[in-house]
Amino acid sequence: MNNDHGGVIAIYPGSFDPLTNGHVDIIERGARLFDRIIVGVLINLEKSPLFTVPERVDIARRVFRDYTNVEVDTFDGLLVDYARRKHATVIVRGLRAISDFEYEMQMALMNRNLNPEVETVFMMPAEPYTYVSSRLVKEVAALGGSVTNLVPRLVEERLRQKKHGRQTLRA
Ligand code: PNS
Repeated sequence: MNNDHGGVIAIYPGSFDPLTNGHVDIIERGARLFDRIIVGVLINLEKSPLFTVPERVDIARRVFRDYTNVEVDTFDGLLVDYARRKHATVIVRGLRAISDFEYEMQMALMNRNLNPEVETVFMMPAEPYTYVSSRLVKEVAALGGSVTNLVPRLVEERLRQKKHGRQTLRA
């Protein structure tokens, strides 16, 4: 798994709309386990996201500012092609519950079929985050509920700004 590009490089791909404490937990685990972990924010033109890709990148870069082996980047196209370009041999994914398993298994096996040299490694987040998802965080925040302790403080602030911005627009 080692290569000529500074040890084992892992990619942690996702939408990160927005980054949650579950993501942060997995990235911290990955940073301990691998020489370098690249948080790959998917440029997905089909979805209608709450945060733009530059906003999501900015958040992740700020949250991981002090981590020397965490890089935040964007990608489009096939994940395995991106992994090859970045000389990454590992794809990291978080597994929260059985409900994640089927989709994750399909992706891992499809990616293996596309490039057998890249291994998918699953990690479980700390227990308090096993029910946290970006989708629920967005819903709760939009409806005025508290997401404290579920997302980094910066994300909480940005969610508040988005909500305020939308309310001002509607007024
Ligand atoms: O956080 P998400 O939205 O569940 O992440 C999904 C992601 C980005 C890992 C997946 O959609 C992906 O890898 N997209 C890139 C396109 C690709 O390679 N598709 C084939 C995967 S089997």
